[in-house]
Amino acid sequence: MKKIEAVIRGNKLDQVEKALGNIGISGITVSQVLGWGRQKGNITEVYRGTEISVRLLPKVKLEVIVDDEDSEKVQEAIRQNAHTGAHGDGVLWVTPVEDFMRIRTGEIFLD
Ligand SMILES: Nc1ncnc2c1ncn2[C@@H]1O[C@H](COP(=O)(O)OP(=O)(O)OP(=O)(O)O)[C@@H](O)[C@H]1O
Ligand SMILES: [Mg+2]
Repeated sequence: MKKIEAVIRGNKLDQVEKALGNIGISGITVSQVLGWGRQKGNITEVYRGTEISVRLLPKVKLEVIVDDEDSEKVQEAIRQNAHTGAHGDGVLWVTPVEDFMRIRTGEIFLD
């Protein structure tokens, strides 16, 4: 299994989440986060209609655990749906997951 984490624009969350729902993932975790990328707040970004140049910009982070064979499909769905082409579209990264347990049933999915 893999964990795909993506930091995206908050206003892309709906679209990304719907796209992921359509390709049949079993769950998703969403957090509100603060961060910066390569521009480090040296340029301003438009957030909710206002130009801001603070160093820590509000973003949304997604976490999805998927089977290895679904990893590329999920990465591609995030990329396509989070993309605007402007600085600040975000980043994603993938890490291996050893165990995943569904608490209700105790089912354990080993890597
Ligand atoms: N190396 C990193 N490690 C952890 N989080 C990162 C990293 N780079 C970017 N992020 C997160 O992604 C958010 C958006 O980053 P951003 O899209 O501006 O990346 P970038 O590398 O500057 O690319 P771009 O040139 O397209 O803006 C940041 O606010 C931060 O939360
Ligand atoms: Mg940037």
